[in-house]
Amino acid sequence: MRLALGVLASGRGSNLQAILDACARPDFPARVAVVVSDRERAPALDRARAAGVETLWLNPKDFADRESYDTALVRELETRGVGLVCQAGWMRILSTVYVRAFRGRAMNIHPSLLPAFPGLHPHRQALDHGVKVSGATVHFTDEGVDTGPIIVQAAVPVEPGDTDDTLAARVLTVEHRLYPEAIRLFAEGRLRLVGRKVIVNPEGRG
Ligand code: GRF
Repeated sequence: MRLALGVLASGRGSNLQAILDACARPDFPARVAVVVSDRERAPALDRARAAGVETLWLNPKDFADRESYDTALVRELETRGVGLVCQAGWMRILSTVYVRAFRGRAMNIHPSLLPAFPGLHPHRQALDHGVKVSGATVHFTDEGVDTGPIIVQAAVPVEPGDTDDTLAARVLTVEHRLYPEAIRLFAEGRLRLVGRKVIVNPEGRG
């Protein structure tokens, strides 16, 4: 049986699209069970609908605090048998309620080579710092912002004259390859967490 994914997306949803496209391939070991957004008009929800995937808008205004929001979020994901949650451009801070429920079963993508440039505006941070390479990271979710155990990374060059937008576009192309790769590794049982290190088994579960 293919692994059921929940995807959390607040915006454009190009990473969601890459995941949907990967899941459309017959040999891919996962399927998207539900796409959740905190924003009613997130283009990500349109992408999910176009792919025939269930969507859910969880409006933050309907909840008293972060914990009650996350309790509802966890319930919705568990109801659908989600085995792995992928935060793909999810702009809300997640509380310990969510992190505890999905520890080792939730991933995030961040457009920098972590631990460099976590948080907001990573491309601006990278350009201001003057790095010559940047890239993208998929990591397990923990209590911090972009701090969890690193699963896969890929680098891109920073070119002279780059702006936030040109660098973001270059990084995005590798994001779209990396997220499906991380999901495949997880679904095939090839990831093992040792302390804060993720060991990738090249052989598969065997
Ligand atoms: C991506 O760069 C992702 O790494 C970051 O937010 C952006 C979301 O883009 N967390 P999209 O919504 O997947 O197009």
